[in-house]
Parts: sequence; structure tokens; C-alpha cells
Amino acid sequence: MNTTIDKIQQSAKSELESASSVDEVKSISIKVLGRKGLITQFLRNISALPESERPTAGKRANQAKKNIEVLVDETIRKLETVSTAPDDLIDVSLPGRPSFAGKLHPITQVTDSICDIFTRMGFEIVEGPEIESDYYNFEALNFPKNHPARDMQDTFFVSDEVVLRTHTSPTQPRVMEKQQPPVRIIAPGKVYRCDSDLTHTPMFHQVEGLLVDDNISFGDLKGTLTAFVHQMFDEETGLRFRPSFFPFTEPSAEVDIRCVICRGKGCRVCSQTGWLEILGAGMVHPAVFENIGYDTDRYSGFAFGMGVERIAMLKYGIDDIRRYYENDLRFLQQF
Ligand code: FA5
Repeated sequence: MNTTIDKIQQSAKSELESASSVDEVKSISIKVLGRKGLITQFLRNISALPESERPTAGKRANQAKKNIEVLVDETIRKLETVSTAPDDLIDVSLPGRPSFAGKLHPITQVTDSICDIFTRMGFEIVEGPEIESDYYNFEALNFPKNHPARDMQDTFFVSDEVVLRTHTSPTQPRVMEKQQPPVRIIAPGKVYRCDSDLTHTPMFHQVEGLLVDDNISFGDLKGTLTAFVHQMFDEETGLRFRPSFFPFTEPSAEVDIRCVICRGKGCRVCSQTGWLEILGAGMVHPAVFENIGYDTDRYSGFAFGMGVERIAMLKYGIDDIRRYYENDLRFLQQF
């Protein structure tokens, strides 16, 4: 009895192993497991066996049936996988598809480089809110309400007292009101102005710098910014300080660097001047210190605010600032 069921199982197994199509497997399955199949017949004939052998014979036959069913399913699955992947669909000689790796936006990369240079000089990084009160954005910086100096920065108002910050300078009073000198910080971040052309975008990035201590002079400001420009570009890059006006610094300056796109010959980016403005700077105005409560007889300091996009344009030779924000991967992947 055992030999019969073993034989049925053995031969079904070897027939399934050599089957080359799903149809062939199905007919083996019918022959062995079907209503008139070998196992069914075996089970029907069990009553002819001596009574003591019947339970074991039934058990073995049912186990064999289950084993063969599993084998049938596996064989069909194998044959179907092979048939949906014919040899001619896989060309093993083709080069692999490179996977797309994301990277930091060029403006983030340049911001990080600027921060690295200043942290190496001992500056600490701080951040301030992009939605700012009129007080920190203007009044604490010596821009009285309705003063014409506010026209320098075309402002997006959220309400009468709340603005999208027009510069990173509000971080200056925010930091100073929390600590006594020495203060040595830089504050990177987004700022907003109603402005758009080749060198201006409505959202752009600045890095603010502030240093307050005993005996800080304009010479310290010049030395710090010169060291920065030489590290950011190279030792040959010329820079110049032009007298300017900001209500929160006195004296004030705008700093230009030699246009690296035209090498100073004049092009549309530098408006044919050979120079491009990258930052505003100056010695902190005593009125700002008075607002904070710093001792104006003892302390002096310098501050600067640089445009990151301008620096990135010069570093990479980009002649239109808007390219940074068009989300064109062909442009962005170059950095
Ligand atoms: C200011 O924003 C002052 N807060 C800078 C400052 C800080 C002066 C501390 C003194 C002390 P200004 O408006 O010039 O200054 O802007 C600074 C820099 O931001 C500019 O030199 C320029 O590089 C960049 N910038 C200004 N407007 C735009 C704009 N719309 N798009 C891109 N970059 C801009």
C-alpha cells in the first residue's frame, strides 16, 4: 500500500520536474489529483485494504495529495516567470541607469561656504524670524515711522505692524537685547522685497554680520571683509568701499567686488561698470546702541549685510539671478 502511494508521488514529482509548459503541468495535475486521478482512485480503493491499514493509508494518501498540489503550484509559478521574461528583453551589455542623487541648492552651498569662513574667524551663527515686527525691521534700527529712508527697501506688509523682513539686520537688535558685548555673530536667512530684474528677486538671501566690543574700528571692518572676499573668491579679487547711507550705521559703506564675469571690462551684469555690489556695511550707529541700552562711550561695533545670490552669481559666472529660482534641473545639477 505504502509502495503504491510512494510510487505515485515519485513519478508525479519527476514528471513535474521535466514539464516544459503550464499546459503540461495542468495535465499531470489532472492525471494525479483529478476526480479520476491516481490518488482519488487509490483513496476509493482503500476499503479493499485490511481494516488495520486503512487509517495510515488514508493519511499518507492525503499527505501525498497536498505535497503534489504544492509542487504543481510552484512549477506553474516558475514556468510563468520564465515566460514573461524572454531572453531578448534583457540586454546585459547595456550600461546601468545612473540613480538620481539630490544635492544642495547652489544658494545653500554658497551660504554654507560663507558661514564656514566666518565661523573660522570666530563668529557664531544665529537665526531670526522671516515674518518680523515693524519694530525690529525698522524702528530698533533707527528708521523712524514714515521716514523716507524706509523707501530704500520696498516692503511687503503683512499688517501695519508686521512685515516680511526686508533684510537680516533685525537680528542685530534681537541678539544685542539678550546679551552684553562682546557680540560676534552672523545671521543667514531669507529676506523679501518687491523687486525683480537681472540682479534682483523678490525673495533673496542675506548673511548679516555684527561685531561689538571695546575699540572696534572701521579698519577691523575692512580687514574682516577683505579676508572674507579673498577666501570666498581668491587673493586677486579686488574690492572697494563706497560711502553710502544706512540709518543704523555711521559711517556707512557699500562694498563692490571686481566683476568676475567680465573681469572688470564691463558687462550687462555689472551695468558696464566692472564692479558689482555685494554688501552694505558700516559702524553701528550710537542710536541703535542707545535703543538696546549698551554703553555708547565704551562700546563700538561694525555690521554688514551681504546678498548671497550676488556672491553666487559672481562665484559661478551666472548672468541672471532668476536662474536660481526657475527649478530647471539642467541648470541646478551643474553645481
Ligand atoms: C541692506 O539690506 C542692509 N541691511 C545691509 C547692512 C547691514 C548695512 C548691516 C549696514 C549694516 P542693501 O539693501 O544694500 O542693504 O542690501 C544688501 C545686499 O543685498 C545688496 O548689496 C545686494 O547684494 C543684496 N540685495 C539687495 N536687494 C536684492 C534683491 N532684490 N535681490 C537680490 N539681492 C539683493
